Amino acid sequence: MARYVINALNKKSRINKEIYGHFSEHLGRCIYEGIYVGENSPIPNINGMRKDVTEALRNLKIPVLRWPGGCFADEYHWMDGIGPKEKRKRMVNTHWGGVVEDNSFGTDEFMELCRQLECEPYVNGNLGSGTVEEMQNWVEYMTFDGISPMAELRSKNGHEKPYRLKYFGIGNENWGCGGNMRPEFYADMYRRYQTYVRNFGENKIYRIACGPNTDDYEWTDTVVRLAGRFMDAITLHYYTVTGPSWENKGSATRFSEDEWYITLYKTLRMEELVTGHIEIMNRHDPKNRIGLIVDEWGTWFDVEPGTNPGFLYQQNTLRDALVAGINLNIFNKHSDRVVMANIAQMVNVLQSVILTEGDQMILTPTYHVFDMYKDHQDATLLESYIETSTIGSNGNTVPNLHESVSLSADGKLHITLCNLSLEEDCRIDTEIVGFSPKSGKGRLLSGNMADHNTFEAPDNIKPSAFDSFSLTGKGLTMEIPAKSVVCLTLEQ
Ligand code: AHR
Repeated sequence: MARYVINALNKKSRINKEIYGHFSEHLGRCIYEGIYVGENSPIPNINGMRKDVTEALRNLKIPVLRWPGGCFADEYHWMDGIGPKEKRKRMVNTHWGGVVEDNSFGTDEFMELCRQLECEPYVNGNLGSGTVEEMQNWVEYMTFDGISPMAELRSKNGHEKPYRLKYFGIGNENWGCGGNMRPEFYADMYRRYQTYVRNFGENKIYRIACGPNTDDYEWTDTVVRLAGRFMDAITLHYYTVTGPSWENKGSATRFSEDEWYITLYKTLRMEELVTGHIEIMNRHDPKNRIGLIVDEWGTWFDVEPGTNPGFLYQQNTLRDALVAGINLNIFNKHSDRVVMANIAQMVNVLQSVILTEGDQMILTPTYHVFDMYKDHQDATLLESYIETSTIGSNGNTVPNLHESVSLSADGKLHITLCNLSLEEDCRIDTEIVGFSPKSGKGRLLSGNMADHNTFEAPDNIKPSAFDSFSLTGKGLTMEIPAKSVVCLTLEQ
């Protein structure tokens, strides 16, 4: 029996709904096919966006969507993607599969997608290969309300009113695909570019600097020290890679019990990374003004056999669900500094919530976790502590349980719990201080470790009702099955 204590009297930070954000890049079949099929497609669509996909995403209450990359962002020239489609430039997507990019999905289409999803746009600008003027003009095109060359151009393209744009990223992975810069050089470039990212009228841009890869603490230290006062947030990228190298990342669906634990062990590293980068930020920014945005996270496996290696198309199993549950718990727990996170990527790329094939669509186990966790959005994190035991195989040890708890504005308490063990169900004795539950409702995602949905069996793995709990005078007891994600909502 594990002891679990929730202290509803100790209300901590607000869990920014943007922690449940997504990322869509011009990569493989994410934008084209996965989201955008064009107005003339036989696949049912609204203004070119597939209806099945946008409906499923609306159900998740997606708060924010990052676009157009990724590495693609630092090669993207936004002017190529506006105006009459037949006149738009065609280019080769050198990073991702060497396919032709016809620019039929550009700024106005992205804003239309965000309108349909009812989410905030997060546009990532090109600092690696674009000019300052180009970045300045892009922001003017999107947000200026008045007489200006860019506002006129927008108007000519059928969008008289400016868009509302809050989140703007100034470069992506500029330590790598975004220009191979040193942190000192990037800090200076950032200072220069951000100067011309203007606030027009009521529109206030939240400026996001490119942060480190994984544990590059020197990058965070240097960039925040030299440019911190010019930024609202800095990013962090960390992918869960199971295999020993980028050439051998392991299969998404065929894996051993050892690989189950290796994956979870590696994903738990997010805790160490977030803590480490926050410690550095605390030194330079003790008042906690600058946010940390984990705008690329998730599993990265070998592509599905027979698919273009540059398209990063991978399947998604119960193991991915555990990865999602653990990371979202970590972000919730650090929501005093982690203001946004964006899983990579939304559709058909890496750890997707949706996979498509022609006119078919399936929801992945990761989708179901986002659905089960959505009540945390904008709720208040509560203090909580769970007793764990160490499990695992061949040195890849992990705690058996992982959790977070929040209280939403309607007075409901939300618990999300992961049981990482492949074998052991776990009985949990929960004491809740300052909240007396009178009723509860839960959902459970569990199965065999490699269970996944396919186009032939789309509901192979999906949540079911969770009722293995009983309310006690001081809280509740619950029985959490092995390899599962559980969410529980309690009312008093
Ligand atoms: O998400 C795929 C790629 O991973 C992104 O383009 C890049 O930023 C990162 O290296």
